[in-house]
Amino acid sequence: MSEIERVLNAKEKKVKKNFLSKINLLIKNSLNKIFKNYYQFKRFNKKKKTFQGWGLITTDTVPPWKNQDNEENIFFNKTNENLKDLTDKKNFRLTQFEYEGANYQKIIHELSWRHYIVFNSVLLASKNTSQKEVNLAECGVCDGLTIYFALKACELLNIDKKIYLYDAWENLENDNLRFKYDYLNIDITKKNLENFGNNLIFNKGLIPSVFQKSENPTQINWLHIDLNSSEATQSSLEFFFDKLVSGGVILFDDYGGFINTRKTVDKFFKSKNGHFTNYPTGQGIFIKK
Ligand SMILES: C[S@@+](CC[C@H](N)C(=O)[O-])C[C@H]1O[C@@H](n2cnc3c(N)ncnc32)[C@H](O)[C@@H]1O
Repeated sequence: MSEIERVLNAKEKKVKKNFLSKINLLIKNSLNKIFKNYYQFKRFNKKKKTFQGWGLITTDTVPPWKNQDNEENIFFNKTNENLKDLTDKKNFRLTQFEYEGANYQKIIHELSWRHYIVFNSVLLASKNTSQKEVNLAECGVCDGLTIYFALKACELLNIDKKIYLYDAWENLENDNLRFKYDYLNIDITKKNLENFGNNLIFNKGLIPSVFQKSENPTQINWLHIDLNSSEATQSSLEFFFDKLVSGGVILFDDYGGFINTRKTVDKFFKSKNGHFTNYPTGQGIFIKK
């Protein structure tokens, strides 16, 4: 074997050795990761689940509505349990979940964290801004499920309220939305909320044009935006932001789950005075300074 061949052989061996040790390391790291994940999963699986639903699983913390030492939590829990019965008996219709074999008790239970945040955001806005009367607005009402919890929060505080509700309540097939809402019927929503008296103003039509022909508030304490549409979210923010009083709250349902809505909201609040928090439910809360 010539000198050149010997050098080439030695180089080839070195390259092979390097390659094999890299593969070995890769396999070792991957196996370590798999075993670690497996044991973590096993340990997690053994733990008692304190809540499951809406993409969340908790283990060691007790949900606040199980804390029976707190009057507001007790009231929320009663409201939630009562709604399970109402929906089960179709005394409160959830047309968005009316499919074969729908389990309304389970649906409402799984939404508990979401509705707890809706309920508390109204308590927060009311306590922050007024002790006597509040104006609430909701863009994206559907069957009235979220506004139900907002109304119950007002009932607990025993404050006067006026509620401005905005929704197309019609098929939005042509609006390029993820959902069509062709099943919606404003009369069902009105019936669902009939026990809350005549402080509810139903503004039916497309956002933003509906704002031009509606009975609108001059100022608001709380706004909920749940439209699954970044354009309509932007229009709602532009229309209502200046009407929101200092200390008032804007609650977003779609912040965590819709990237375009998240970008829209973040951009909008960049130049605004206040504080924004994102919750594990995907909801976001802005408190105006
Ligand atoms: C996710 S649903 C609202 C759910 C409701 N907040 C609840 O959970 O009780 C979204 C609603 O936004 C409405 N919507 C979407 N885009 C709209 C627009 N541009 N104008 C008016 N309503 C719109 C739909 O009709 C639908 O009822």
